[in-house]
Amino acid sequence: MQDRLTDLAIGNILSNAVNIGYRLNLFKAIAEISSPENPVLPEQIAEKAGCKERYVREWCNTLACGHVLEVNEEEKFWIAKENLESLTTDNFALIYNAMLTTILRPIDTLIECFIKDGPYGLDYAVYSDFEEMQQMFAKTTSEGYVVSSMIPDVGHGIQEKLETGIRVLDVGCGGGLHVRLLAENFPNSKFVGLDITEKAIEVARSVKKTDGTDFKNVEFVVGDAGNMPKSYTDSFDLVLLFGSCHDQMRPDLCMLEVHRVVKPDGWVVVTDVDGSSNVHTDRETFGKMAAMKYGGSMLHCLPVGSNAPDALCCGSMWGRKRAVALMNQCGFDDVEVKAMDYSPGSVLYIMKK
Ligand SMILES: C[S@@+](CC[C@H](N)C(=O)[O-])C[C@H]1O[C@@H](n2cnc3c(N)ncnc32)[C@H](O)[C@@H]1O
Repeated sequence: MQDRLTDLAIGNILSNAVNIGYRLNLFKAIAEISSPENPVLPEQIAEKAGCKERYVREWCNTLACGHVLEVNEEEKFWIAKENLESLTTDNFALIYNAMLTTILRPIDTLIECFIKDGPYGLDYAVYSDFEEMQQMFAKTTSEGYVVSSMIPDVGHGIQEKLETGIRVLDVGCGGGLHVRLLAENFPNSKFVGLDITEKAIEVARSVKKTDGTDFKNVEFVVGDAGNMPKSYTDSFDLVLLFGSCHDQMRPDLCMLEVHRVVKPDGWVVVTDVDGSSNVHTDRETFGKMAAMKYGGSMLHCLPVGSNAPDALCCGSMWGRKRAVALMNQCGFDDVEVKAMDYSPGSVLYIMKK
């Protein structure tokens, strides 16, 4: 086990170094000025990235020893051709390393949360750049499939309805990435994005169309999903929750409200982290990714969803069984559950009022 623990510590250090490289554009700097035939000194990388040579040198040394960067006897560095794309373009694995700093920021308070008389949980405000990182994360995951694969997969004529023009609510919309994707592709439909944090809505309101112009079919509202405006009753044809159900302290109140605001013949679609509600099964099913899923929940989703005495403390790995039970309890008798093959490890819950 001690070897294993040493490997874990090394992995942790390398992950932090990757995060530093991502945030300071150091990988992009190396990629731009070096090649296997033309390796460069840390001072050249530092100059290109606007950083201090001494720090960049230690960063290069660390990642070269971790076989993330290449180094020669003259202590010059480059990125191997086969690693260029992974280290210089936004992708799930790279962003996850960067996201870890964001979710680990309140680690001391999180440790206190474990203690019997410690705080219930964590407020979103303690993650200073959560909204931006969440958007970055959602972009690398959702952008490639929401319109092209997920909406057709939901079925029930929803794509056609979106094309014709319907009223859609995105609950827990965060920085508005999904609203932007859908509003741009379905200009005849009208979208409302609702989120409890001012910061998320501030980020969402700054969102523009790809051509830089303002949306005409989008509105963002600060609000509690467990207590939505009275005027919303029976007013949405489609209600969407992208990974935002388990994060709430009272997802039951939210789903009761969703039941109220969706039209009598309307649809509700919830995306979530997939799990079976049994850790033994999840470890078999998801292999090494299971630890990432449960770990992400432990570090972020559980504490934000536990931050009140009456919180349900779901965590993102609450799983299909518990999620469906809660949806049933909130009036959705028939919940269709579908693995999202185009987004491995995610699940869709589709239901009608
Ligand atoms: C994991 S993030 C997902 C954000 C967004 N849907 C996405 O996929 O990028 C969960 C979001 O739920 C929001 N949230 C949590 N509790 C809420 C509540 N009671 N009412 C509305 N939004 C809430 C958080 O502020 C956060 O933006």
